[in-house]
Amino acid sequence: MGFIEWATSPLGQNVPIHIAWSLIWVALIAGMLFLIVHAIYIRYFAGEKEFAAEAAPEIAARLPARVPRHSLVARAFHWIMAASMFTLLFTAFLPKVGLRFDWVTYHWIAGVVLTVSVVFHIFHASFFLDFWSIWPDKADLEDAGKRILRFLGKPAGLPRKFAKYPLENKLYHGAIIVTGMSAILTGVFMMSRVRTPLFSRNPYLFSDMTWGLMYVLHGLAGVGLITLVVVHVYFAVRPEKLPITASMIVGSMSREFYLKEHDPKRWVVETLPQTRRGVADAD
Ligand code: HEM
Repeated sequence: MGFIEWATSPLGQNVPIHIAWSLIWVALIAGMLFLIVHAIYIRYFAGEKEFAAEAAPEIAARLPARVPRHSLVARAFHWIMAASMFTLLFTAFLPKVGLRFDWVTYHWIAGVVLTVSVVFHIFHASFFLDFWSIWPDKADLEDAGKRILRFLGKPAGLPRKFAKYPLENKLYHGAIIVTGMSAILTGVFMMSRVRTPLFSRNPYLFSDMTWGLMYVLHGLAGVGLITLVVVHVYFAVRPEKLPITASMIVGSMSREFYLKEHDPKRWVVETLPQTRRGVADAD
């Protein structure tokens, strides 16, 4: 059994039509396996996280009680994207596993919402957020090297605390870019195969072979997103990550959590003038 389904085109050509839907289960099981292995590792094998230096006490003393992490606009984007992503996953895959309903209209509408919100996010992140904060830097790679050596029991110095986003989050974001953009770009073209009020239908835009490959890429990106979403939700509900999840709702995290995981030199937050701290904390 292959991972692509084939059919014969009107011209007698053997063309791919979409992925084999059994890949849905492969993706789901891969996500579940990841979380089981990770949970066992954290529970029985991983020690306390150790970092190089503590933040200078004078910097720590001037931090606000709540450290701002996500602006209102960034949070709104995150939740709109999450709602459209879940709608896309459920409308795409529930009919394939036996729950029949008229899914295409809900699916393309959620697709348009995701596409518009991602275009907005790219613009917002490029001009209004710290664009480079989500891309791995030299310090991340050096520290990852140290973490791997220490894991293998080899001598290595302690890694630094994280910048705003740990390397794992940056790599996850990269994987979401690849799968998300593949689903979006192919999805936008696939809109011309279905009836929408946005533009006139044109199923002859590409050859049968090109359409087939496009459906396969859309499906592969889609099942990839099943695994990525399972992993993302798992991390969001892990007890030690709850302050991060809460910050995606309220926008900030406690000074204590910030100091435990983050290096104020790598993620610079606005500090309070010394004399004002007591007043500001009480505000
Ligand atoms: C989480 C992201 C997405 C997932 C998991 C997903 C999954 C799927 C799947 C499995 C199909 C069925 C394809 C087939 O029969 O081979 C499909 C069809 C479709 N998707 Fe998506 N998709 C996603 C994002 C999008 C986006 C962003 C758009 C639009 C911008 C879109 C537009 C469409 C359209 C129009 C169809 C119907 C094509 C047809 O029936 O001919 N999808 N999608």
